[in-house]
Amino acid sequence: MLLGVLSACVVGAAVLYSLFFWIIPVAVQYNASAALLWHDVIVERFLDLITGSTRPQRLLKAVQKNATKGDPQSVISTIDHFCRRCEWAMNVGDEKGTILDSVVCEVSPGSTLELGTYCGYSTVRIARLLAPGTKLITLEFNPDFAKVARQVIEFAGLQEKVLLVEGPSGDIIPKIKEQFGITTFDLVFLDHWKDRYLPDTKLLEECGLLRKGSVLMADNVICPGTPDYLAYVRSSPKYDSKYFKSHLEYTKVEDGLEKSVYLG
Ligand SMILES: C[S@@+](CC[C@H](N)C(=O)[O-])C[C@H]1O[C@@H](n2cnc3c(N)ncnc32)[C@H](O)[C@@H]1O
Repeated sequence: MLLGVLSACVVGAAVLYSLFFWIIPVAVQYNASAALLWHDVIVERFLDLITGSTRPQRLLKAVQKNATKGDPQSVISTIDHFCRRCEWAMNVGDEKGTILDSVVCEVSPGSTLELGTYCGYSTVRIARLLAPGTKLITLEFNPDFAKVARQVIEFAGLQEKVLLVEGPSGDIIPKIKEQFGITTFDLVFLDHWKDRYLPDTKLLEECGLLRKGSVLMADNVICPGTPDYLAYVRSSPKYDSKYFKSHLEYTKVEDGLEKSVYLG
């Protein structure tokens, strides 16, 4: 009798585990709304509740436990592994990350701006490719995310190359020239809330932070999507714009990056 109850509990736990970490994640990976609802609402809230921690804190723990200190590549691989096997997170991810890497290498920027740090995944991706003496400024308005990102960046050994500025992009962009001594950015990575892409691009133009040849790389232009930004950079004579087709991070849903070269 006891053995029967125990067996039923073990089978029940195995079924629940498979459903939670395998069957449902595989089933939702082709549908954007289902994937975001499952990963970003249901799983995140459930794990927050039962672990008493947040997703960024769990991601940081995985880095501290499994990555090699001072090795940015191992930090990136550890986060990708965590997001594929344990918990999805809104990093640019490995697939689009490879496209981003190639543009960073092609531009070889002396000055880089990132809008939207989250846990520092893309910050580490970009900063590891920067030449010695060059800096990346990254903006994040959520203090809890910024706290985790600082630790991830430091774990990767990239703190000398990164300046994480806390606050809303709309307030910080107009102060960048004066506060950080930047004249223009060679590369801007847009990956914050999608309704800010267009106003912040116009703000960067107005503040004279773009020069002829500056490159804007925008993530998630299809999913969740940035229709007003895409229409602007694709129709404006001020930009030469090209789409790089890919997938929403850690899923099979179409998403992509838009590379837009500022023509002045
Ligand atoms: C998609 S996540 C960034 C992911 C990160 N770039 C990566 O690939 O690892 C977007 C982040 O932008 C931040 N954010 C959104 N709007 C912002 C704004 N106007 N100013 C500063 N940060 C913002 C959010 O708090 C969130 O952490």
